[in-house]
Amino acid sequence: MLHLLPLSTILLLLRTIVANPISTPQSQPLPLLIWHGLGDNYAAEGLHTVGDLANATNPGTFVYYIRLDESPDSDKTATFFGNLTEQVAQVCDDLANHPILSTAPGVNALGFSQGGQFLRGFVERCNFPPVKNLITFGSQHNGIARYQICGATDWLCKAYIGLLKANTWGAWVQSHLVPAQYFRSTNDTTGEPTEEYLESSNFLADINNERKLKNTTYAKNLASLDKFVMYLFDEDTTVIPKESGWFAHVNGSSGEVTDLKDRDIYKEDWIGLKKLDEKGGLEFKTTEGGHMQLDDEMLMDVFKTYFSPEKASWAGPTDKVQEQVEL
Ligand SMILES: *[C@@H]1O[C@H](CO)[C@@H](O)[C@H](O)[C@H]1NC(C)=O
Ligand SMILES: *[C@@H]1O[C@H](CO)[C@@H](O)[C@H](O)[C@H]1NC(C)=O
Ligand SMILES: *[C@@H]1O[C@H](CO)[C@@H](O)[C@H](O)[C@H]1NC(C)=O
Ligand SMILES: *[C@@H]1O[C@H](CO)[C@@H](O)[C@H](O)[C@H]1NC(C)=O
Ligand SMILES: *[C@@H]1O[C@H](CO)[C@@H](O)[C@H](O)[C@H]1NC(C)=O
Repeated sequence: MLHLLPLSTILLLLRTIVANPISTPQSQPLPLLIWHGLGDNYAAEGLHTVGDLANATNPGTFVYYIRLDESPDSDKTATFFGNLTEQVAQVCDDLANHPILSTAPGVNALGFSQGGQFLRGFVERCNFPPVKNLITFGSQHNGIARYQICGATDWLCKAYIGLLKANTWGAWVQSHLVPAQYFRSTNDTTGEPTEEYLESSNFLADINNERKLKNTTYAKNLASLDKFVMYLFDEDTTVIPKESGWFAHVNGSSGEVTDLKDRDIYKEDWIGLKKLDEKGGLEFKTTEGGHMQLDDEMLMDVFKTYFSPEKASWAGPTDKVQEQVEL
């Protein structure tokens, strides 16, 4: 194309580039948020391996590991115990006040298992800094229909599941036990969610806008993403049903799957998924293996495809500070 420009324009362009070498846009990748799953903690080695891989794929990526407590043990405890309304609000607060994240024009986000629907909750409720690309792995976007099965001698797990099962819809359980807040019960005959769920679910029924009164901010925020990519593990036996990772509904009696696009949440666009889909922003992906069986090559491919600085970038925190000083 350049040879079609008049010589004077080319000279002007050259002069501009030479005179302002610093003003050429630096393409630092957007910061990356990672929200871990149940029983994990933000300082875990495995999680940091993933962050390092993101930085190795797109050098210069600032990675923030979402936490509910600076103590890794307490952060892990918060994956089991807590009120998700308060947990998401705390994360909203932390991110909005973070010295680097709050200056970025946008961030990318990676959610593992329950961390995926919690990040979606962050996008719907707060979305500052705004998320550009949200990737979830093995998440429970349409909730769980059954609690996880414990090992034969895992008494702690059994006690915990016992508590969950005893009174899932009670106020104490809904405000203290995390998985109960994304448990979803349906009537197999009608396929409709139960009254108890609609009335008492402290998290999922709200962020999925399943109640009569819809929050339009949720839909607006989710539709503002560039991409929302949902990965399903093809041999996932931990998440019941695994198709929840794609927002699908599964008939508990027949096992029949109703895809997102055949459900009211999409057709009536309760949370902006249809709008996002219509602009090409919604992707359904499968990866091999059981729950959270990630391999480096697949992850690098994901990071290259969705988080590369060619898609969206910023000048980085230091330049931002410099800019402010110059002003
Ligand atoms: C990320 O990558 C950059 C450049 O490759 C490197 O200098 C930096 O130390 C890495 N950051 C982390 C947290 O690993
Ligand atoms: C909808 O959600 C936004 C963001 O969380 C909140 O500020 C607003 O109060 C909610 N609106 C209603 C009607 O609940
Ligand atoms: C969870 O916390 C919010 C905010 O503090 C509160 O309004 C709500 O009642 C709590 N949920 C339950 C089920 O107690
Ligand atoms: C499911 O819905 C059908 C039809 O409305 C109703 O007759 C039945 O009692 C419901 N089952 C339960 C367990 O609520
Ligand atoms: C779910 O499966 C059962 C058993 O096959 C069937 O009777 C019922 O009609 C199905 N529910 C829906 C909503 O299709």
